[in-house]
Amino acid sequence: MSAGADGLPEGFPAGYGEPTTSYVLRVNGEARLIENAWIGENLLYVLRERLGLPGAKDGCGQGVCGTCTVQLDGVAVAACLIAAATLGDREVRTIEDLDNDTETGEVQRALVEFGAVQCGYCVPGVVASACALLARAPEPGEVEIRRALDGHPCRCAGPHPMVDAVRAAARRRVPQETHSTMMFNVIAPPSAGGAE
Ligand code: FES
Ligand code: FES
Repeated sequence: MSAGADGLPEGFPAGYGEPTTSYVLRVNGEARLIENAWIGENLLYVLRERLGLPGAKDGCGQGVCGTCTVQLDGVAVAACLIAAATLGDREVRTIEDLDNDTETGEVQRALVEFGAVQCGYCVPGVVASACALLARAPEPGEVEIRRALDGHPCRCAGPHPMVDAVRAAARRRVPQETHSTMMFNVIAPPSAGGAE
């Protein structure tokens, strides 16, 4: 494709890609400088194309497929829907960094075990969502797990293996004594000394 006078491919209007801005993005515990970037670039593009972090995948580009999911201040978000320049001090974590957490390994092992990893394209997003869920709800119920994974339609295995895997990972993380202690607390009668 031949370039026009201002360096843009022919047919692009003058000023295409403007306005630009420079900013600092907090990613995986580091402050990364983004220079002279179009102000509307989405987080997914910045992560993959500017910062060399390809873990979050580009799928639909419109918030439907979940392959681009990353954590923003611990909450799972679709990176394709967020303008990176607007994030300020908020902390982005991608699968490249989540991968260092013990909990992530547990979720990944369970996904493999339950047959939820086939082509693998959806998996980084599923892991980011599952880990965000388990961080805020260590013992999620089935409905909670299904809600958390709702935005991750897996074309290979469907939803059930990933739900079963996350449930299994959650069970393994919560020691059985905790279950018995919680049960005891629920059913223990009031103390003989009466109300305090
Ligand atoms: S690429 Fe972001 S939700 Fe599909
Ligand atoms: S493993 Fe292929 S889309 Fe989920």
